[in-house]
Amino acid sequence: MNNKEQSARLVHKHVHMFRCPLCKESMQVVELKSLICVNKHTFDFARQGYINMLTRTVKSQYDKTLFEARQQTIVESDLFRQVHKEIANVVEEYIKDINKHMYILDAGCGEGSHLQRILDECNHKTMTGIGLDLSKEGILQAAKNYKESIWFVGDLAATPLAEKSCDMILNILSPANYEEFKRILVTGGLVVKVVPRTNYLKELREVRFKETEKKTYQNDDAVSLFNNQFDLVKQMTLSYTKVLNRLELENLVHMSPLAWNLQEEDRETFVKQEDQEITVDLDILIGKI
Ligand SMILES: C[S@@+](CC[C@H](N)C(=O)[O-])C[C@H]1O[C@@H](n2cnc3c(N)ncnc32)[C@H](O)[C@@H]1O
Ligand SMILES: [Zn+2]
Repeated sequence: MNNKEQSARLVHKHVHMFRCPLCKESMQVVELKSLICVNKHTFDFARQGYINMLTRTVKSQYDKTLFEARQQTIVESDLFRQVHKEIANVVEEYIKDINKHMYILDAGCGEGSHLQRILDECNHKTMTGIGLDLSKEGILQAAKNYKESIWFVGDLAATPLAEKSCDMILNILSPANYEEFKRILVTGGLVVKVVPRTNYLKELREVRFKETEKKTYQNDDAVSLFNNQFDLVKQMTLSYTKVLNRLELENLVHMSPLAWNLQEEDRETFVKQEDQEITVDLDILIGKI
């Protein structure tokens, strides 16, 4: 079975999760090739095993290099290990109380490694991961690397998912749309949002912003917006450092939008360091509807 057929079978098994992004009606997998709604709106599975369910063309600034660097940093450098462990604990705690198959959506999943790592950490047969991102490059990489989850290109503000279909929504360092999240979450479902704190990747920020500009980032607005929308079950702060070697620093520079406007000489100075301690400083917000 090729990637496309394998992915079509997986979606077929969980097809009740989907609704047509155009007419909102239910969908079916046809001939292991397409996802088609009752009004015949058709979305084809790509060869690599993902589905593009966007109804408009989008130009993303996130490209192949960025997602490859993100994957290296998440998987090889394991920079976010503690984040994955904490989120896996939240999943374990939640799954204790439910007796059905569980669906975890990663909204703005990028190249999918966070979702995969969290699922690996939990290792339950009774849960399925679904990853959604606006960037085709990210989803393409996710589908190539991680075949046990469902991957689709889509807009998190207008997902092709049915009402009350997801048990948990992960939203890691990505934009959010809380109205949409509330529509697709089951009653009692959880949103797990990861937002940067002031010192997140501060070493990179220091090169980027020098003395003249703002070096820090405040997440107060993101946190209070979240608190206005959900009952805050828990808020965790994770602050730690990890030493990265030269190759890992190179990946770090390429994975972060922070480095998009970095001067070439600053980029070089940064990656030329043999070893450098890098700070991860994040809030994990867990909300319930
Ligand atoms: C900083 S990246 C984080 C990606 C991933 N969560 C990670 O931490 O590696 C932000 C992601 O949000 C995605 N994104 C931005 N707007 C989006 C939207 N409206 N719908 C879906 N994804 C979106 C981008 O394509 C990008 O992959
Ligand atoms: Zn339709």
